Amino acid sequence: MKKTELASIAQALVAPGRGLLAADESFPTIAKRFGEYAIPDTEENRRAYRDLLFTTPGLAAAISGVILFDETMGQRTKAGELFPAELTARGMIPGIKVDAGAVDLAGFPGEKITQGLDKLRERLADYRQRGARFTKWRAVVAIGRGLPTDGAVAANAQLLALFAALSQEAGLVPIVEPEVLMDGNHAIERCEAVTTRVLEAVFAALAGQRVVLEEMLLKTGMVLSGADCPVQATAAQVAAATIRCLRRTVPAAVPGIVFLSGGQSDEKATVRLNAICQADDLPWTVSFSYGRALQTPALKAWKGRPGRVAAAKAALRHRAQCNRLAALGKYRGRS
Ligand code: 13P
Repeated sequence: MKKTELASIAQALVAPGRGLLAADESFPTIAKRFGEYAIPDTEENRRAYRDLLFTTPGLAAAISGVILFDETMGQRTKAGELFPAELTARGMIPGIKVDAGAVDLAGFPGEKITQGLDKLRERLADYRQRGARFTKWRAVVAIGRGLPTDGAVAANAQLLALFAALSQEAGLVPIVEPEVLMDGNHAIERCEAVTTRVLEAVFAALAGQRVVLEEMLLKTGMVLSGADCPVQATAAQVAAATIRCLRRTVPAAVPGIVFLSGGQSDEKATVRLNAICQADDLPWTVSFSYGRALQTPALKAWKGRPGRVAAAKAALRHRAQCNRLAALGKYRGRS
């Protein structure tokens, strides 16, 4: 079968040793991240920060694509180039988060639904024309007493599938992201059961909406112990549970699975990815699509100070390189 343009882009995003930089923080999220280091949340600081990240020398060795937020799509480097064009020139594929965030799901206390389908067809056409080649939509699933419910899982899966179908229609590779949150004191077995259930629902919905599996990527969380669980699974246990769960639920036609970091420390996110990528007979390519686990050391080094840009770039390059090695299963600890 002839490989389509979208299938080629999906494969390029998970080329060996390369993964994604998620820099698609919405206005409230970037305000929160900046707030942790007392960085004023101004349009210029948001521009300067993304400029710093994207123009890091050598970043493309580890980063195949960058997920942008709407505001960032229209911003420019200090030298005056639009960010999507700058990334493309540096060998990184620009993508865009197109969901409008999670809100309370009516009738389902404690559960969320993701907004953003209104006028999505028109927005996708506009983003593609402005240089985006892939999209992302995130659904969140909480684990708790009686949660998640079947109703919330089904509603989120259906929206992910409608988003993915519209993206492919627009000539954009959808990154389908159901995130099972780490919050809670549950054991890793519970996370595995919930993630399995969610992925089963997502792939059933994708099939129902005629989404072409070869032309999409899955972004999901690793199977982990709840953040407050007194017994934390080892990297080897995380890798075994994650691989078992994904093998049972993700068709081999999907070219790649990329993980979010979801609040894990940067080092843990790398070590666990490395453990997963040491498995040698996976049907899909596995890599990273980290936000915090790539950015936090850079943000901490920068803190909004112009004199610290070089140190911040070095911090990002280091984490990107660690994750490049991890995606190849060759990370050997701090280097
Ligand atoms: P984190 O890696 O910080 O979880 O962010 C990834 C992401 O894109 C979440 O939607």
